[in-house]
Amino acid sequence: PETSSPSVLDIVPVMPVVVIDDLAAAVPVARALVDGGLPAIELTLRTPVALDALRAIAAEVPEITLGAGTITTPAQAEAAVAAGAGFLVSPGLTPDLLAAMLATGVPFLPGTSTVSEVLAVLEAGLTEMKFFPAEAAGGAPYLKSVAGPLPQARFCPTGGIRPETAASYLSLPNVGCVGGTWLTPADAIAAGDWERISKLAAEAAALR
Ligand code: 3PG
Repeated sequence: PETSSPSVLDIVPVMPVVVIDDLAAAVPVARALVDGGLPAIELTLRTPVALDALRAIAAEVPEITLGAGTITTPAQAEAAVAAGAGFLVSPGLTPDLLAAMLATGVPFLPGTSTVSEVLAVLEAGLTEMKFFPAEAAGGAPYLKSVAGPLPQARFCPTGGIRPETAASYLSLPNVGCVGGTWLTPADAIAAGDWERISKLAAEAAALR
């Protein structure tokens, strides 16, 4: 079975999920996260500049663990790794997407929100996955319930998590980290307020 090393779940307590609209913001946002104590980023493939942003961060902020999120097609998995992504995250799971992410050779977190999907990921030989959309799909109580029959499955819950609710997830034995966009608010990025992003990152880094 495929093993993910190093474990994507154990790099930082809060994985910054980042949307970059303006390519020029990519490198300063990555540097602000590193400065705040969160040397990891899940850059989402939701904007036209996302692949260029991955390339820019890979070239200029090599100390950050760089991942690509919102991987929804096999082609995106390949393109993200070619652009420098060292790990991949998908919001959900299909057999083709799982096979494509496995074929890239980089660690990845397939998205799950049901026990059957968790079983499909375990069947593929993986034990680490995303739980999305976390708050809407049952939140921390859901993960606590899943730990009964499937204690080997470990999660990065993402979707609707806030600084106030992160700790309830992080205290669970089957949660490695949580993910969220709250560290990099769109208005802070638009204003070039890198200090605010560093401060939010520092607060999140202290959550565990
Ligand atoms: C994701 O793709 O993981 C979600 O969009 C996270 O967004 P949120 O933290 O704003 O819910």
